[in-house]
Amino acid sequence: MTDTLTAPAPTDADVLTIRRPDDWHVHLRDGEMLNFCADYTARQFARAIVMPNLVPPITTEAMGAAYRDRILAALPEGRAFEPLMTAYLTDTIDPDEVARGFQSGVFTACKLYPANATTNSASGVSDVKKIWPVLDKMQSIDMPLLVHGEVVSADIDIFDREAVFLEQVLGPVMKAFPRLRVVLEHITTEDSVRFVEQGPETIAATITAHHLRIDRNDMFKGGIRPHAYCLPVAKRRHHREALRKAAVSGNPKFFLGTDSAPHQRSDKESACGCAGIFSAPVALESYAKTFEEMGALDRLEGFASEFGPRFYQLPMNEGQITLRRKSQPIPELLTADGIEIVPFHAGEAVAWVFEG
Ligand code: NCD
Ligand code: ZN
Repeated sequence: MTDTLTAPAPTDADVLTIRRPDDWHVHLRDGEMLNFCADYTARQFARAIVMPNLVPPITTEAMGAAYRDRILAALPEGRAFEPLMTAYLTDTIDPDEVARGFQSGVFTACKLYPANATTNSASGVSDVKKIWPVLDKMQSIDMPLLVHGEVVSADIDIFDREAVFLEQVLGPVMKAFPRLRVVLEHITTEDSVRFVEQGPETIAATITAHHLRIDRNDMFKGGIRPHAYCLPVAKRRHHREALRKAAVSGNPKFFLGTDSAPHQRSDKESACGCAGIFSAPVALESYAKTFEEMGALDRLEGFASEFGPRFYQLPMNEGQITLRRKSQPIPELLTADGIEIVPFHAGEAVAWVFEG
């Protein structure tokens, strides 16, 4: 009784209710790792665009359908979650296979990884000219192209690879295929923000939770920090500021895509550590923290739940989710069945709790 009298009554400012969101870019992996990570995404998001960079990559309709079934089987009974599958473009992928997968509803989009740009991209595209017929087919059936926007040349500084990609690859692709809908994934630079803002209606971009919070200094704070390493790599602070402004701007060309990418702790804390940040356990809380810092909590719903479906031409979700303002300690390590993963925000407290 005393408690209820003395505790401050919850106010509207302590509860944030928004339309159920989607994650427009996530890595759910396979096997034990899939079992480990899938529900972190499924509990927060109604749908997710699932990346196809498995080994071997998802290149056929049958592989896409089988992977979708494995994802659904990895979830707890009764979890309502729709994985939206993607095809991994290779130099030799058959345009008709991609089209069949799209028309049957297995594939929602195709993903372009420049060969060797990132984790599991060895089978990616060595020269975008090689996939011209696929891009042509995709444009004709209105199938979206999702892009890992980095060139891979060793001559180009790693911090410049995204900006150079815009000029050398994406610009020419969009010129050749003016009706192709393109999502520039996990943007990290002011250059990309400008490219998308100034581009036609056919281009949009996803922004991760972590690129809204870290800059390149976070990889070297008092020593090398493998858990802040992802690709595209975090850039200078002014780029992060441009991303934050774009995310809260209300411009529907920018929407949520976590790029949550789990790797075993031992694979990250290594002489040659893997790229990827596992943000799924704390994704919405992290975005809410950033939007609140920007004085823009009222813009979170558009970014998380409305602009993605609008671009993908899918219905918005019906239900709602609630975040409550309450300090939430994030564990240093998540473990299960021999898997150990350090999540984003490990060891910190975030100010919001996802309540479902
Ligand atoms: C991703 C992964 O681990 O699959 N890693 C990452 O740093 N984002 C691949 C990717 O999206 O680049
Ligand atoms: Zn990714």
